[in-house]
Amino acid sequence: MFAKTSITHSTSGTSSKYLDLSSVNQHVVKMEYAVRGALPIRAEKIQSQLRSDPSAFDFKKVVFCNIGNPQQLEQKPLTFLRQVSSLVEYPELLKEHNLNATKMLFAPDSIQRAVDTLSFVGGSVGAYSGSTGILKIRENVAKFIEKRDGFPSSADGIQLTNGASGAVERVLELLISDPSVGVMIPIPQYPLYTASLARFGARAVQYYLNEGSDWGMDVSDLYRIVEKARSEGTDVKALVVINPGNPTGGVLTKENMRDIVQFCEKEKIVLLADEVYQSNVYYPQEKPFISFKKVACELNSQVEMFSFHSISKGMIGECGRRGGYLEMYNIDEEVRAIMYKMASVSLCANVLGQIAIDIMVNPPKEGDASYEQYNSELDSIYNSLKSRSIRLAENFNKQENMSCNRAEGAMYLFPQIMLPPKFLEMCKQEGKSPDQEYSMRMLESTGVCVVPGSGFGQVPGTFHFRCTFLPKEEDFDGFISTFDKFHKGFMNEFRS
Ligand SMILES: Cc1ncc(COP(=O)(O)O)c(C=O)c1O
Repeated sequence: MFAKTSITHSTSGTSSKYLDLSSVNQHVVKMEYAVRGALPIRAEKIQSQLRSDPSAFDFKKVVFCNIGNPQQLEQKPLTFLRQVSSLVEYPELLKEHNLNATKMLFAPDSIQRAVDTLSFVGGSVGAYSGSTGILKIRENVAKFIEKRDGFPSSADGIQLTNGASGAVERVLELLISDPSVGVMIPIPQYPLYTASLARFGARAVQYYLNEGSDWGMDVSDLYRIVEKARSEGTDVKALVVINPGNPTGGVLTKENMRDIVQFCEKEKIVLLADEVYQSNVYYPQEKPFISFKKVACELNSQVEMFSFHSISKGMIGECGRRGGYLEMYNIDEEVRAIMYKMASVSLCANVLGQIAIDIMVNPPKEGDASYEQYNSELDSIYNSLKSRSIRLAENFNKQENMSCNRAEGAMYLFPQIMLPPKFLEMCKQEGKSPDQEYSMRMLESTGVCVVPGSGFGQVPGTFHFRCTFLPKEEDFDGFISTFDKFHKGFMNEFRS
């Protein structure tokens, strides 16, 4: 009864399976995600070749600069976070008969925090929590936001999610009511947005960030773009802003943010503020992080907004724990109820991720045993990230035909390469994407894996790549000198 001939939708291709590329969801087939695309696949192959034959390449190891995954590049986890996580995972350690041994290994405030956490988690981290997350943690998130912004926040408006990705996907799914819906996304952008729009079958309405003004936004352009999209039948519902920016590393000015909020309010466009890099801000005097919530509150704006944060970034870098949250600002009560229903369908966000969010928003306080250590670990990660970003940008800027804005925030540099005409011609003839080809050559000769700019979008005719500055400081000298050699060789090969 399951004869393939009876399945009318599965007729193309060479597969003998019922389920083939033509019969699965075409939205998912079209979806692309450059951060884990062709280059990292090749990089993994090279890595395994190096394992069996360490002399197979001119370098000894592959350095994965393609993804903002700090602990993969050996960033040390924060001790307090890991102590509390270990204790809540294995509460036997908190029992009277084990407590003396536990006290030898764990700080007293880690032990106390674990006891408190287990009491509001309901006894076990292995149990589902409430759909939108543990109430006490949502209350702590609201307090954190109030302290950060100086404006009220409430646990009711907060949902804890599986990373910021889970939050973004939930909101996009909510917004996309039919295929004519459009969401304005920055170019360059973090590919979660284009991938999710493809997946939910909506239109990406692109706006360009201005490389010449530290990746700022030209708000007059936004008015023009929305008008054009609407005149072509696109129902523009939302605007995504990533601040601090990925892949650009830019931080928006307050003036720019005010204009954006006013634009959204005027055009009745929901603002999606992706603020996962809010503590990765390297020039806080000149370019501080300011939340869109704060700007909206100061303007007493009626803008409707969702904002996102995560434990994956900042100095915490706990990407694998999948903790995130969203805050709803000025969202209709009935829509909030739908958001609640959506959260309920996936039962709850992973509880250890929720606990890590709790630690992020409510770290040890002055006088607590872990306070000094917690802050010195944060500071050392922060200082090292900043100094690595400066070193790497300086190095890119001294290369022929290359320019790179400094990283004001986030974890990436996005240098522009003026590729030689001879190379562009060769790529054209061979049907290759120039920035992909340049990045592949870089990988093959240095072991450094970056992401070509085309994975994020770029002004046509310009070429970039995104490189994290997460590799350990010890690896940096090797990385910088092999890159120098590669780029010089490349420029010489294609000089006309
Ligand atoms: C701008 C941006 N938003 C969201 C995410 C997703 O973060 P999470 O790990 O919390 O899902 C990332 C991850 O790199 C990101 O760069």
